[in-house]
Amino acid sequence: MRMRNLYRKPTALRCNAGSRCYSTSAVIWSLLGCLLLFHLYSNVHHKHGEGREVQLRVTNHPQLHELQQVEGEIIQLPPKGKRSPRAAKRRHKRVTPLVDEFLDEDSRLRHVFFPGNKSAIHPMRVTGNDSYYYYPGRIWLDTDGNPIQAHGGGILYDERSHTYYWYGEYKDGPTYHAHKRASARVDIIGVGCYSSKDLWSWKNEGIVLAAEESNVTHDLYKTNVLERPKVIYNEKIRKYVMWMHIDDANYTKASVGTAISDTPDGPFEYLGSQRPHGYESRDMTVFKDEDGVAYLIYSSEENNVLHIGPLTEDYLNVIPVMRRLFVGQRREAPAVFKHQGTYYMITSGCTGWAPNEALVHAAESILGPWETMGNPCVGGNKMFRIATFLAQSTFVLPLPGFPGSFIFMADRWNPANLRDSRYVWLPLIVEGPADHALEYSSGLPLWSRVSIYWHRKWRLPQGWSTFK
Ligand code: GAL
Repeated sequence: MRMRNLYRKPTALRCNAGSRCYSTSAVIWSLLGCLLLFHLYSNVHHKHGEGREVQLRVTNHPQLHELQQVEGEIIQLPPKGKRSPRAAKRRHKRVTPLVDEFLDEDSRLRHVFFPGNKSAIHPMRVTGNDSYYYYPGRIWLDTDGNPIQAHGGGILYDERSHTYYWYGEYKDGPTYHAHKRASARVDIIGVGCYSSKDLWSWKNEGIVLAAEESNVTHDLYKTNVLERPKVIYNEKIRKYVMWMHIDDANYTKASVGTAISDTPDGPFEYLGSQRPHGYESRDMTVFKDEDGVAYLIYSSEENNVLHIGPLTEDYLNVIPVMRRLFVGQRREAPAVFKHQGTYYMITSGCTGWAPNEALVHAAESILGPWETMGNPCVGGNKMFRIATFLAQSTFVLPLPGFPGSFIFMADRWNPANLRDSRYVWLPLIVEGPADHALEYSSGLPLWSRVSIYWHRKWRLPQGWSTFK
């Protein structure tokens, strides 16, 4: 004790000798430095804390958990003898009796698959607690009270106007077969466009790319095919660029078309069509990555292979880089999205307007390799799940402010009356490790689980648009 006291250094801050003065100012500077560091630390810490708080609020949002609750669906098929002979005849071709029943125009369950006008959702008439609810499969009206016509569509969030634009096939015409063996079709009317701030009430912005009525050699001549239009914005040329599947009535042209506009609500100017990389192109989509590079993804080689390749800087063409994915697996209706640096894609099988099983794929690099993780559908019942809730993928929209939460957009096609095809929008959530990657090979990461949750009725978490 004493010893320590003896050797203790003087603590007075005096400046009466050179060396002591030097060490004193060093102490002062260190103190000041410490204070500054402390200030900086507490600032950063505060900011991080805030971020974490928002993140916590977001991921703990009670409605987000509701969306992940598994909801069953009982669809009681009529006893075998009571099913229409047409459905029974189809039996050998289709995956499940549910799909046979679904495709039967005379099915007793028609009202289950395609609920009538009485249950239509009219955003201007629904009030109070019922507002903002999505009812997958029900008739969905725009703000004028007309059924939304935006099939095989996709959504663009326009940063300039802070508005969502939904583009899709405007199919409000008669369904017919061009010849006996041709699949059901509606003549081209054009690309429908709807705008919304809340992703629930949609205002009709009109037909932003119209069919060609007189020139029979034009790609958009009404008896041809225009499907799956998607729009992305190009900052360099300051244009809204639309890509779409262009075909003839027999689906032998198998091309992709482009159109541009100065404004998201058109009119779009049609630029022409091509076979990308010299290959057939049928179902397709485009995906704009965070670094501004955009990609075209299309079913090719008689729908046996999916192709992916980057677009030019102006998004008006492809460059000579292309990768072949899922060779021989016959995947179509691609919808691409990204979460925490990983790319995901939902695809369907190729069975025309008939629903089939969706698959989800993942990749660390968008050009591949891609791995297939399995069927992302959760809930409903097994038959429903292996028919993608009787719908086919078209687009996946990120939900701003809720990292890992998306809206899965799909079409419930009605081949008997295509204009009456319905929309199946459901929450898609990327969370937790995947059960398995079907093609898992060593050296590649284990992917996150991607789930599309069935809900008869659901809505986005309240305040979602403020969590940005
Ligand atoms: C589907 C395709 C639709 C449409 C339909 C025509 O396979 O996904 O976009 O082309 O075939 O039968």
